[in-house]
Amino acid sequence: MASSNPQDLVAAARRARENAYAAFSHFKVGAALETDDGTIVTGCNVENATYGLTICAERVAMFKAVSEGHRRFKRVAVVADTEAPTPPCGACRQILWEFGGNLEVVLANLTTITGTHQLKDLLPLPFDARLL
Ligand code: THU
Repeated sequence: MASSNPQDLVAAARRARENAYAAFSHFKVGAALETDDGTIVTGCNVENATYGLTICAERVAMFKAVSEGHRRFKRVAVVADTEAPTPPCGACRQILWEFGGNLEVVLANLTTITGTHQLKDLLPLPFDARLL
């Protein structure tokens, strides 16, 4: 799928959210990443009975994308069924930064875009490979 419209990316994240496996929290999240060539790669949260092995929608999307050979990204959309925005957790911010750099982060619920940010503002003073 190819696109560069944030609404299309949000729509893809909403569809991905329907596949969330949130048997424990019942908090379903969808994510959609846009690569620099306009490809969209989606993810949803996948929980686990141990709780700690749960993986967030954003990391599923990024790991899928990297595993499919994508290396350059423009934007990520994150969708949950909440009035307030659901921003990526700290672990996801690190992974998104590592592979995506200063992505545009579009937060949305099932009907509305609730915020747009730059990842550098969500993860100030990041640790990354340049510091190794
Ligand atoms: N979750 C995500 O998938 N992404 C976020 O940005 C926030 C949290 C998931 C993890 C867990 O399955 C559930 O939401 C509740 O924390």
